Amino acid sequence: MRFPIKVKTEVIPSFLRRIIPNKPDPTRLITSKVDETQFSRCASSICIGGIWRTTSPGRHPESNKLLARTLAGTPARIVDVGVSDGGTSVDLYLALGADVRSLVVTDVCLKVRAVRQNGGWYLFRPDAGACLMAVFDHLIYYNVITSNSFLGGHAAAVFAAAPSPETGSDVFLMNPRLMSTVARDSRVELREWDVFTPWRGERMDVVRVANLLNPAYFTTAQLREAMSNCYRAVEGQGWMMVVDNRKSEKATLFRKEGGRLTVAARVGDGADAEALLCNGWGPTD
Ligand SMILES: C[S@@+](CC[C@H](N)C(=O)[O-])C[C@H]1O[C@@H](n2cnc3c(N)ncnc32)[C@H](O)[C@@H]1O
Repeated sequence: MRFPIKVKTEVIPSFLRRIIPNKPDPTRLITSKVDETQFSRCASSICIGGIWRTTSPGRHPESNKLLARTLAGTPARIVDVGVSDGGTSVDLYLALGADVRSLVVTDVCLKVRAVRQNGGWYLFRPDAGACLMAVFDHLIYYNVITSNSFLGGHAAAVFAAAPSPETGSDVFLMNPRLMSTVARDSRVELREWDVFTPWRGERMDVVRVANLLNPAYFTTAQLREAMSNCYRAVEGQGWMMVVDNRKSEKATLFRKEGGRLTVAARVGDGADAEALLCNGWGPTD
């Protein structure tokens, strides 16, 4: 990350927001009652292991429609991987309607631990105990590798003063829109899953991964490891969908057939990671 220190969007005038690196204040998830849209915006400011939780509702309409057309009349067990606050899982759930047999909504991290100290909030990853970010009145500091030695040094000093995570409390990162769906419909459940580990549940009919299998985030070897884990979570004759929303929505729908994946359909030019599966490599059972 080039700028490990960002200004809170809320404290700069809108005409400067394109110039000054800024992010919405994620601590509004702790201190204020935010609506579903604001929740997604604030959750998108969180960065875990160098991967942003960027999300917004309604960002995958074409790939949701493609999956709805594909499943039409065949209720499926679906796992959604790396969902951030899960708002886009609700979009998928609504697009599929009665064709959801079950929907398991997963992310590597469903909550963070928050500790208030020195007039700011320090957010930790609850499992690893690592301090992810620190949020003060105007600035957000990210604990990431940076090429900017001046800002990096300044951020390092802030993290050197971080408190112990033990004294904090957990902040759940899932959108109220998702939580009311989970409360209403027993077909929908939440689970932590690190895609770099094997899937531990029953095999699923559809594995959907949106905006995670990004060649900018991971090496080819890592992408292939994650894809193999997704592939092994798919029942024979099932589907795997990889979605990207960089400049526009792009997706590839793969079918598992004869022990390998074949491209069944695309949105736009297909997902960027598609080439990794089509260039002489394929996951195996
Ligand atoms: C850019 S967000 C995408 C959110 C949502 N799928 C969407 O398209 O709006 C990437 C998400 O992947 C999650 N993530 C990062 N590493 C992961 C891993 N190893 N396993 C599962 N999820 C991971 C992050 O926590 C984050 O919520």
